Amino acid sequence: MSAATFIREFARNWNATGAVLPSSTAMAACIVDAAGVATARHVLELGPGTGPFTAVVRAAMPAHARYLGIEVNPVFVAHLRERFPGLTFAESPAQAFDFDAWLPPGAGFEAVVCGLPWTAFPEPMQAAILGNVLPRLAPGGRFATFAYFGLHWLPRGRAFRALLRRQPGTLRTTPVVWRNVPPAFVYVLERPADGDAEG
Ligand SMILES: C[S@@+](CC[C@H](N)C(=O)[O-])C[C@H]1O[C@@H](n2cnc3c(N)ncnc32)[C@H](O)[C@@H]1O
Repeated sequence: MSAATFIREFARNWNATGAVLPSSTAMAACIVDAAGVATARHVLELGPGTGPFTAVVRAAMPAHARYLGIEVNPVFVAHLRERFPGLTFAESPAQAFDFDAWLPPGAGFEAVVCGLPWTAFPEPMQAAILGNVLPRLAPGGRFATFAYFGLHWLPRGRAFRALLRRQPGTLRTTPVVWRNVPPAFVYVLERPADGDAEG
């Protein structure tokens, strides 16, 4: 069901969907662990699609944690709301979402799990999304996003990596998940904890 929905939406809107198949369970486990969902109080997911990461996020996040998923495709949003009735999904482009309306005053996201197709986006859009989301990371919070192995060498993949490198915090990459189709790895940007020197 999920794969069929995903393939249909890829055929209809390949640029925003950005992949032919949903991510694998191995990829989901890697990105959810990298983002530090298990200890987060506020969890954000960008571009959940049909929900392969969402299922692992839901299982990993603490019982008291709050989850917000932001997805631009209304077909996926309807599917997600039916599949995960206890979670909150907003139908919005990530670059335009008003986080003040959702986050408690002074709070930030300790964990961001991102499935957006960065190499499908021109650099100004990459910058607009990062500019709206990254200031919402809590001190010590992590932003984890995946890249298909090989596509990160293309111009938009390189532009995205350069943008990430310019952000405050430390950037690392996970090993490649070869069991994903296509193989992919995760960028993990960790914001400095309050009082830490800039990474
Ligand atoms: C590569 S798919 C990943 C879906 C899922 N996370 C997975 O790994 O299978 C990218 C998802 O991002 C969504 N998307 C694309 N542009 C977006 C934007 N500007 N804001 C929010 N979601 C967006 C697409 O509709 C799609 O569901």
